[in-house]
Amino acid sequence: MTVKILRQQFPNSEPYFEEFDYDGAKDISVAALLDYINYNDDIVTTEGKKTTRIGWECSCLQGVCGACAIVINNVPALACETFLKDLKGDKITIRPLRKFPVVHDLLVDRSSIQENLKKTNVFIGEYNVPNDKEGKKHSQHVKEHEIQYLAAKCLKCGLCMEVCPNYINGMNFFGAAFANDCYLVASRNYEKTQEIKKSYSEYFGKSCSKSLSCMNVCPVGIPMISTISKLNR
Ligand code: FES
Repeated sequence: MTVKILRQQFPNSEPYFEEFDYDGAKDISVAALLDYINYNDDIVTTEGKKTTRIGWECSCLQGVCGACAIVINNVPALACETFLKDLKGDKITIRPLRKFPVVHDLLVDRSSIQENLKKTNVFIGEYNVPNDKEGKKHSQHVKEHEIQYLAAKCLKCGLCMEVCPNYINGMNFFGAAFANDCYLVASRNYEKTQEIKKSYSEYFGKSCSKSLSCMNVCPVGIPMISTISKLNR
């Protein structure tokens, strides 16, 4: 396989492509492939040029931390959950998420995801929901629990924001990860729901065009169509 990687030495330096050869088994993940290329003391490109180790980020290597989010063959995906055997052809192109500032090679700064949540005070806080007509707590409905459980799996990996046609870093639309947490807060803390209503409308509701491409790339399968419709209601 030929592995083409978009590299960038420093945050504002010029990006450039480098190609590497790989002739091993295809039942490994892209994360393992990056490790493989980085393993030797001498990292050599397809053209035989010595180069530096490829910068990328990982932690769990099993799809639960979100650190390894990159773009593989133009599709935003987790490197540790994408296997070479599932990719078409013998050429693989890897680049960093481009909706976030690049720190080095495939490493990006996704702190804006957390900063936006802090700025709008979107935290669960204490459990506080009113009773419904049957005297049950609103979120005691089993159906709600299922969606809450899925929403709570959000990795804050940024893949949904990478694919979103409306999300531009630094603009007033905070993306699906923000809406996801608004849903969690709204379904668990009624008083806080009143407080974040304005933020949700301002930073998500007004600009989401419901392309729902976020659902196609979410590595944990959060049903955004359900969470967004509940929030809008
Ligand atoms: S390293 Fe944690 S999700 Fe890939």
